Amino acid sequence: MRVLITGANGQLGTAIKKEAQDFKTLNLYYTDIEETDICSKESIAAAIEKYSPNMVVNCAAYTAVDRAEDEREKAYALNAQAPANLAEQCMSKNIKLIHISTDYVFDGKGNTPYIETDKVNPLSVYGQSKLKGEQLATAFGNTMVIRTSWLYSAYGNNFMKTMLKYGNERPELRVVFDQTGTPTLANDLAIAILQIAQKPHKLFVPEIFHFSNQGVCSWFDFAYEIIKQAGLSTRIVPITTKEYPTKAIRPQYSVLNKQKITNLLGMEIPHWRQSLIKCLAENLR
Ligand SMILES: NC(=O)c1ccc[n+]([C@@H]2O[C@H](COP(=O)([O-])OP(=O)(O)OC[C@H]3O[C@@H](n4cnc5c(N)ncnc54)[C@H](OP(=O)(O)O)[C@@H]3O)[C@@H](O)[C@H]2O)c1
Repeated sequence: MRVLITGANGQLGTAIKKEAQDFKTLNLYYTDIEETDICSKESIAAAIEKYSPNMVVNCAAYTAVDRAEDEREKAYALNAQAPANLAEQCMSKNIKLIHISTDYVFDGKGNTPYIETDKVNPLSVYGQSKLKGEQLATAFGNTMVIRTSWLYSAYGNNFMKTMLKYGNERPELRVVFDQTGTPTLANDLAIAILQIAQKPHKLFVPEIFHFSNQGVCSWFDFAYEIIKQAGLSTRIVPITTKEYPTKAIRPQYSVLNKQKITNLLGMEIPHWRQSLIKCLAENLR
């Protein structure tokens, strides 16, 4: 199986590189914007020609949630039009595409974990651009979309790394406690993706799936646990979203129901706290 990873230098791409060591039957090829700009049809065609993949995993995205409010066109080019171009070209060569999306396609007005068919209603430009990407890419019939949430890892910039940095510098951190979701260790998602790539005939289904770690928490709870597990003494103070205004509106509740992907993969997904402890062990080493 030949698998091409786009946006491979980001968090998820790096996690796939790391976890791929345990998937020896896969031939993985990693590209990022310098070699393969997924906003360029020619660049996509050149990568497909060069690597001749059976599957593409698109990890490239515009992920600056607040900046997207001012950079609508850029967000749509990368999160909506580019996956559509990828899906179209993959379809024409009979290549399977796994595309990653987000819990921010939901408005967060629910209070039970979202299933894949629940009504979408993104509140931010980022969420809207990602939803458009899902819709355009799945129209080609060869695309599996995996929505995930609150991605973090030992690589790149993410909430866990920000908390560790500030936790070492400041006596107190104010963190919102009225947004609820589930953190996802990028390595856990990477393993699920690699399992699908390893058994594409059985596990690749061109539909939408949800994947995050198990359990539920607020950003406050997540921060509290990061600081505690890292052995730092910073005080974590709960605040409301109103007290921490951001350009983009986030869903208040965005827990994803994982039953569909759990049934497909026949695997148990770790609890977020268990994965955080594993990640911190790597990050603090
Ligand atoms: N991060 C989260 O909390 C979160 C939550 C839910 C869902 N997701 C989704 O999960 C996926 C992976 O997220 P991530 O956190 O791994 O993202 P990331 O760290 O921001 O990585 C994205 C990668 O794409 C690259 N890229 C940018 N423009 C490109 C282009 N035109 N062509 C090819 N590559 C390009 C970026 O390069 P540069 O760094 O040079 O721009 C970067 O290496 C995304 O689809 C995201 O929407 C993320």
